[in-house]
Amino acid sequence: MRKPIIAGNWKMNKNPAEAKALVAELKPLVKDANCDVVVCVPATDFESVRTEIAGTNIHLGAQNVHFKESGAYTGELSADMLCSSGVEYVIIGHSERRQYFGETDATVNQRVLAAVKAGLKVILCVGEKKEEREAGYTDALVEYQTLIALTGLTDEQVSEVVIAYEPVWAIGTGLTATDEQANETIGVIRKGIERKYGKDVAEKVRIQYGGSMKPGNVKGLMAQPEIDGGLIGGASLKAADFSAIVNFDK
Ligand code: PGA
Repeated sequence: MRKPIIAGNWKMNKNPAEAKALVAELKPLVKDANCDVVVCVPATDFESVRTEIAGTNIHLGAQNVHFKESGAYTGELSADMLCSSGVEYVIIGHSERRQYFGETDATVNQRVLAAVKAGLKVILCVGEKKEEREAGYTDALVEYQTLIALTGLTDEQVSEVVIAYEPVWAIGTGLTATDEQANETIGVIRKGIERKYGKDVAEKVRIQYGGSMKPGNVKGLMAQPEIDGGLIGGASLKAADFSAIVNFDK
């Protein structure tokens, strides 16, 4: 049995004081969660969030990581910098990074390798655009994105990666993949992992759905056998909504 994992992706929202207030409100609401609870916050919020969640079941995440250990990379943060700031998880390859910041499958792979080497837990994002789904390329694309991103990891390391299947057309749009669509594509990702790494690894990997997940649709999505959690954008910015998603099984 895979333990569900619900992660918030705050994107470029909340200053340190707002961040502290949000997690302070969240703490009592998610304390009895049966899933892993993560908040991926802007780097400027690491310190205030880390202090506020100390001793709770909420885990700290970042939204990107650079692949070099140090050096002349203005504006970037290394995996070691994240670890030493109390960060446990890192989102890699989010579609907004692919769309606006020149992220490629090759750089996603480099980031994954650097993060895993440093001991960070990776949330790897994959997903198709609307025109790619309409052209019938979804399955081939998500399998390719997933396998290329994991290249160079051992079987054991792969089994610990969290994958977020996020159809690009469903992110921040209010459009959600149907429960069946999300389940089917996540099944395709798992089959791809099975072909390359074997059944044991494929059965262990947790695969989330992301894209306009909210309190109203979480139960249906989480009832699907392949879906092991959610990566939540907009709805993670409100304690009531995010906690309702975390408590989907109550
Ligand atoms: P959304 O974002 O929940 O606002 O659609 C999800 C994401 O981008 O991770």
